[in-house]
Amino acid sequence: MQTSDKKVIFSAVKPTGALTLGSYAGALKNWIAMQDDYNCYYCVADLHSITVRLSPADFRRNTSEMLAMYLALGIRPEKCTLFLQSHVSAHAELAWVLNCNTLFGEARRMTQFKEKSKRDPENVNVGLFDYPVLMAADILLYQAEIVPVGEDQKQHVELARNIAQRFNSRYSPTFVLPEPVLPRSGAKIYGLQDPVKKMSKSNDNPNDCVYLSDDADTVMRKFKAAVTDSDARVAYDKANKPGISNLLTIYSVFADVPVSAAEKQFADGGYARFKQCVGEAVVEFLRPVQAEYRKIAADKAYLQSVLKTGAEKAAYAARKTLSKVYRKVGFLEKA
Ligand code: TYM
Repeated sequence: MQTSDKKVIFSAVKPTGALTLGSYAGALKNWIAMQDDYNCYYCVADLHSITVRLSPADFRRNTSEMLAMYLALGIRPEKCTLFLQSHVSAHAELAWVLNCNTLFGEARRMTQFKEKSKRDPENVNVGLFDYPVLMAADILLYQAEIVPVGEDQKQHVELARNIAQRFNSRYSPTFVLPEPVLPRSGAKIYGLQDPVKKMSKSNDNPNDCVYLSDDADTVMRKFKAAVTDSDARVAYDKANKPGISNLLTIYSVFADVPVSAAEKQFADGGYARFKQCVGEAVVEFLRPVQAEYRKIAADKAYLQSVLKTGAEKAAYAARKTLSKVYRKVGFLEKA
């Protein structure tokens, strides 16, 4: 199929920290699987990252490490458009137009904004509030129909759809209406220490979160220490056994088996053996990825060339949508 006949996908991760098992399970696993059948735009959302305070040196490192990890996981720049958000100025430009088509009330209802404001009350900046509108610009610029994300981003994609609908009816049909696509298993991976809260790259407790860059000993140690319950029965029961259910989901994602099969496989053993097997499945998955990562991360010229090509391809597509939007809202054309 020609690229132009394929449905468009957009998705991104923000480089506020290293990629986690959660980002892989919720988003990247689907991104990789969808590369052959869709016209995919995958992005490192660096503009989104500055809503939190990061040192410029850490931020730069996170951004290149994230790009190298995308590639090591199997995102192929020959198959998709891979780029940095800040390299395509149309994202910020469209965000402004969409700001003027987003109601304060609907942005205020965003769960992540409420949660993040509570977590860091000293830094409730306007960018944090506006964050979902920039996300809408990311998606709508490429006329994306499908947005593969984890559960926590579903509400933001739905807002993007509402903004698109409002713009289309206020002016005339301009944007494709996007839809979130969640994975069957792993749409929300929980913390290993606190299995009722989302596993997050910005968690203060390093044992709560497994990073894709963790070495084998660290991975095994974190799984060994994972919080479970006193029942000693491996069964999926999210309400009563959140720790075990989370481990079953992680096993299902990384060993690539349905949760029900994993449940059967471990029904007769105790928690210690189960935790060991979950850790081993993750270590086995990470071993070739990390070897590839070391090679790619060392090749700065390759990383630069991927970004250059990606930015050119993305800017071309984005400019087409932005010009259309500028015409529709009534900006005079540049001579
Ligand atoms: P971010 O960086 O918080 O997360 C990146 C992706 O990973 C998913 N995810 C998880 N899924 C399951 N379990 C978890 N514990 C977990 N943690 C993270 C997220 O749902 C997400 O899909 N604003 C976005 C990045 C972004 C974006 C976009 C996404 C910018 N523009 C446009 C889609 C479309 C974010 O901060 O994701």
